[in-house]
Amino acid sequence: MSGNWIEVCATDDIDEEDVIRFDHGGKTFAVYRSPDNQFFATDGLCTHERIHLADGLVMDDIIECPKHNGRFSYKTGEAKGAPVCVDLKTYPVKVEGGAVFIAV
Ligand code: FES
Repeated sequence: MSGNWIEVCATDDIDEEDVIRFDHGGKTFAVYRSPDNQFFATDGLCTHERIHLADGLVMDDIIECPKHNGRFSYKTGEAKGAPVCVDLKTYPVKVEGGAVFIAV
């Protein structure tokens, strides 16, 4: 696995089954904590109309876009429901010393 590991936040800064926005290097990401306490990261903007997904709703392994309710798996990035048809890019995540890191 390559890329630079960037510290996002403390694990406690993201509630279970929730998402936060993280901006870095001119890009925006969405970082998720699943109901079973794992962390994931995707591009921060919906592939439909570039709305911030961190304003959306996390349900199980799905992020629902706040604008038109398009759905993605935040674990795989797969587009799951109209109107979204382009998958989201995902990023490796690790937890170390109580902090969350993503590889960008
Ligand atoms: S902007 Fe996300 S579904 Fe339209």
